[in-house]
This record gives sequence, C-alpha cells and structure tokens, in this order.
Amino acid sequence: MVDAIWPLLRWMLFRFDAETAHNLTFGPISAAPDLMARVLTPLRGRNPAQPTEVAGLTFRGPVGLAAGLDKNGVALPVWDALGFGFIEVGTVTAHPQPGNPKPRLFRLAPERALINRLGFNNQGSEALATRLRRRRERGRWPAIPVGVNVGKSKITPIEEATDDYVTSVTRLRGLADYFTVNVSSPNTPGLRDLQSQEHLERLLAPVVEAADGTPVFLKLAPDLEAQDLAGAAGLAEAAGVAGLIATNTTVQRDMLPSDPGEQGGLSGRPLYALARAKIEDLLRDVGTSLPVIGVGGVETAAHVASLLDAGCAAVQLYSSLIFEGPGLPARIHRQLRARR
Ligand SMILES: Cc1cc2nc3c(=O)[nH]c(=O)nc-3n(C[C@H](O)[C@H](O)[C@H](O)COP(=O)(O)O)c2cc1C
Repeated sequence: MVDAIWPLLRWMLFRFDAETAHNLTFGPISAAPDLMARVLTPLRGRNPAQPTEVAGLTFRGPVGLAAGLDKNGVALPVWDALGFGFIEVGTVTAHPQPGNPKPRLFRLAPERALINRLGFNNQGSEALATRLRRRRERGRWPAIPVGVNVGKSKITPIEEATDDYVTSVTRLRGLADYFTVNVSSPNTPGLRDLQSQEHLERLLAPVVEAADGTPVFLKLAPDLEAQDLAGAAGLAEAAGVAGLIATNTTVQRDMLPSDPGEQGGLSGRPLYALARAKIEDLLRDVGTSLPVIGVGGVETAAHVASLLDAGCAAVQLYSSLIFEGPGLPARIHRQLRARR
C-alpha cells in the first residue's frame, strides 16, 4: 500500500528543493510520531526481518536507518513502523547549532544521490536527552534498538573535542542503546582530522568510559586510505570500541558523470562501490575483529545480502529511502527472507 502511493508522493515532494521536501515530510511526522506509526504499520506490509546480533544488541533485522535523517530523535516510532531493524539518530553535538547556510542539501535524481553540507544542524544533546527520557518514561520506546550518533560542536576547538563528545555521551547515558562516535562527516571543519592516530588515542577511551558499558561504535570516512583505516580499527579495538560503521559520505566526485560543483558529502548510488571497497579493506585486509556495520549506497536486498556475505554484521541506509520511499526497509527484509 505504501509502495502504491509513493510515486505520487515522490512526484509532489521532488517538485521542492531537497531540504524543503525534507521539512514538509518531517512536519507531520514529528508532530505526531506515535499516530503516524499506527497509520503506517498496516500500510507497510509484512516485515519478516531476521533478528541480528551485533555487539550484544539484538536488531530486529539487519537493515537499519543511518544517522542524519532524524538528527533530533523526533520520529523513533515511525522508523520502527517502516520496518527498520534498528535506528541511529543524530548527529547531535554538545551545543545546539543551526548548521551551515542554505542551500546545503542537493538532490541528484538521475544519479540517485545526495550531496549535503548541513554541518550538524541539531538541537543539541541536552534536548535529545530530554526527548528520549520522556519517551522511555512514558513506555513509548520503540521495539528496536536506538543508537545515538555524537559529533563535535562547531564552536569547540579541536583540542577540546574529547570533552565535547564526553559531555554528550554523559547526558545521554542510559538513554541510548548504543553510541556512535562520528569523526567522519566532511562538513565540520577539522572533524575528519579526529580520525588520525593522535586524536583517536585521546578521544576513544574517554568516550568508552563515559558510555559506561553502552556499546560505542566508530564511524569512518570512505576517503581514508587502507593504512589509515587499519590504524583507526586498531585504536578502536584497543580502546574498547564495540564496532565500526563504514562509511560516511565522500568528498570525492569522480564517480559522478560530471561534478555538480557543490561542496559537501556525496551519498547514495555513486557511493556504493567506494564504501564497499573500504568495507572489504576493513574486513579482509585489515582483518578487524570488530563487527562492521556497512553503509553507503545500499539500495536493494542484493546489496544487503552481498555486504552480509562479505562479513558485515548489519547494514544501514539513508539516501535510497529518499528515492525508493518508505516501503523500502520492509521490502528489503521481505526479499532477504525470500532469498535465504
Ligand atoms: C542529508 C544527509 C545528512 C547526513 N547526516 C549525517 C550525520 O549527521 N551524521 C552521520 O554520521 N552521518 C550522516 N549522514 C551520512 C549517512 O549516515 C550515511 O553514512 C551516508 O549517507 C551513506 O549512506 P547512504 O548512501 O545510504 O545515504 C548524512 C547523510 C545525508 C544524505
């Protein structure tokens, strides 16, 4: 049913620029997420997801929502209703911040891709903690795990990055099912420098300590060379990180037929091959013992099956949801079940 109405809805939404379309969708969703979830669940169709264990967590299925779509955690029951196996909200930062000037989100429809330079526009980790606490207290926590992706505030100097991450994790401790340390978004000046050995050594152990037993994942960029991936994976393991998420968006453009000339992170179909190559580097060449959640250009059950076969513990997606619509996660889980 959701699939039947999607072409019309998509046609209407794609008449607006990408951020306006996002806001038009998020308005009703965030105003009444529990009601929306009740409406969407019967429209979604069967969701025969197979429970997937990752770092001690049980995901309802292997396909989760990637960070960045629900930055403020306003629509948790909706992602559950659409059939995702787990949800990652954020990125949140210690300080609320407006993000970069608009326009900052671009849709490349023929390429099935997005470019964003949002710059972590979010209400801050305090507001998210309040929202999540209220949901837990009211007994309206989704039936699937909810991770919180944490980043550095723009105003915080790079030398004080660890405090910024630790502040957010401390506020959210006991409210998130897992944390993700995001050092890989391209739109906060200096953030990706935190992927260097020197910075990771200072960052990861204090965050793991602040998380106090909640699993911590480290999210990496697809623009890292194999040796930097290996370094980051080794430091993550040593610091007690529970898993890796690979990858974030790319600053490369050579996978596009022509460069649209917009700065930011590229995601969606053109990212798949690069993300997959980096995932294989981690799993095969680096041989990390940490579970890897694969993300980047995932659009189909075949992509998911292929990443799981390559050794990924689970998979996330974001961009393909914008192009394929809300029926996608349950459809992929149905198709995965039919294959296995
Ligand atoms: C508009 C947009 C905003 C994003 N914001 C974040 C973010 O705040 N934090 C983060 O870790 N990743 C963010 N991402 C990256 C996604 O989580 C994901 O790693 C990336 O888009 C690749 O997956 P995809 O090709 O399925 O979209 C964002 C992606 C998009 C398209």
